[in-house]
Amino acid sequence: MQSIYLLVGTLLACHGLYLFIKRRIHVRNLPPKYWTIDPFMNFDWIFSTAMNANMQLTLFEKYGHTYRLSKLTNPMATIITCHPESAYTILAGQDWGVEFRKPGMGQLLGSAFICTDGSEWKRSRKMIRPAFNRPNIDNFDVLEGVADKIIANIEAADGNVEMGSLMYDALMHSSMQFILGLDSTVENDGRPMDVQTFSKLWQEGLLGMGIRLLLGGSFSKTFLPKARYQDVCNRIHSFIDFAIDACGKEGSDSAKKTKTMAEIVKPQAEDRADARSQLAQTLLASQDTTGVLTCNVFHLLSSRPNVWAQLRKEVSSAGPELLTWEGLRLNTTIQNILLETLRLRPVFPQTGRFAIRDTVLPSGGGPNHDQPLLVPAGTFAISSSWGVHVSKEIYGPDADEWKPDRWNNFKPGSSEFLAFGAGRRACVGKDKALAEAAYLLVRLVKRFESFESRTPEWKPDATFSMKNKKGYQITFKVQDGSGQDKNIM
Ligand code: HEM
Repeated sequence: MQSIYLLVGTLLACHGLYLFIKRRIHVRNLPPKYWTIDPFMNFDWIFSTAMNANMQLTLFEKYGHTYRLSKLTNPMATIITCHPESAYTILAGQDWGVEFRKPGMGQLLGSAFICTDGSEWKRSRKMIRPAFNRPNIDNFDVLEGVADKIIANIEAADGNVEMGSLMYDALMHSSMQFILGLDSTVENDGRPMDVQTFSKLWQEGLLGMGIRLLLGGSFSKTFLPKARYQDVCNRIHSFIDFAIDACGKEGSDSAKKTKTMAEIVKPQAEDRADARSQLAQTLLASQDTTGVLTCNVFHLLSSRPNVWAQLRKEVSSAGPELLTWEGLRLNTTIQNILLETLRLRPVFPQTGRFAIRDTVLPSGGGPNHDQPLLVPAGTFAISSSWGVHVSKEIYGPDADEWKPDRWNNFKPGSSEFLAFGAGRRACVGKDKALAEAAYLLVRLVKRFESFESRTPEWKPDATFSMKNKKGYQITFKVQDGSGQDKNIM
């Protein structure tokens, strides 16, 4: 009898040892682990890398191009990578999806391209695509007013402004026009609220949505207060619905050169809620993008007077054709500045996806983490465009420096520049954003001789788009008759 116990005990011990060794080998072949304090949701990693975005890069310095977060029952719950091919695969590969966003987003933004995959995403993308066709975005009428307003506000403040909020407000008005077809200066056309009130509610709504995204749909439904958020969602919906109902009322004008997104989406949508989802999600996708890019350009230019001087010289000697679509998109000095800014300070430094099925990433596995990595379905992965953009292997030993001229001789491969995403889900607003940022830059360069940043330190916060925590306090200057710089009076 004793020998049977001994035998069973030995067999169990061997099996345990076998499982232990198997797990050790398995774990050894996984990317290095970042130890989180919270083993359930990894909240500490989420918060610290969002609020102190520089940490996104320092962790790659410590762990290498790919590392993982584990949860109590899953040794590889999340993969974070800046390996160019892996980062590209996560963004562009067919095995990766975004529907995990739907439960947290749905109440405010419905269901459209940001939170759908497969045929639902295709239908949504097809619906909004025509709004970004060249004739529809090759028109600076609205932007001219936006730039006039920004310049007037700078002048009214004697040159001292916080450029972030100035840009945000001004570009919210142009988004209203482009997406909803609403003139933000009109108030008494029956709209449920003015644009300022909408803008405040929108911010509140996005905060509520962000919390729900983080905590997950069912947890939020059970534990978070409902009434206020529901009210905010309802009021935002009523504003967008007003725009949908209003469009087309004046009768169709076939001579009109451009169409608003509401006009494009409405006839294709299944119903008003469907149209509202497309418009609300485009408002989100465009939010704080062109404005943040322009602010970052000024922040970087403030320490590079030689680039500013070159830019002013070029802009001053250019004719009116510079402020046209071709003029702006073909001007290499300006486009180099924008690309280099997006490289070093991508507006969205990282993007998350969920493995829809078992799949493989090109790198991160094996004992040296340089072999393909098997990724089980359900794993969350974060593709770090920022990490890719500062790679010395791609951009050279001066990858950390802002050097717009590097783009004269450099054409990145598809996995080497990911500021606008990659593959079929890449940014559909890219051309519009690059033309608009260039337009705003040229208008400001034309008007102001010099400027100074009063918040020169770069401490990025990436809670949504990545921007400077302390904002963008800037003093713009014009020259007086004697050629001396002075603040504007
Ligand atoms: C500097 C400006 C901008 C940057 C850096 C930027 C960046 C991005 C990125 C990285 C994505 C891909 C997200 C993902 O892979 O999940 C994206 C998607 C998108 N962007 Fe932009 N964006 C900018 C401006 C805009 C503007 C101005 C609009 C609209 C007016 C816009 C509309 C969209 C849309 C609709 C998508 C979703 C495409 C899809 O899922 O099919 N973007 N953008």
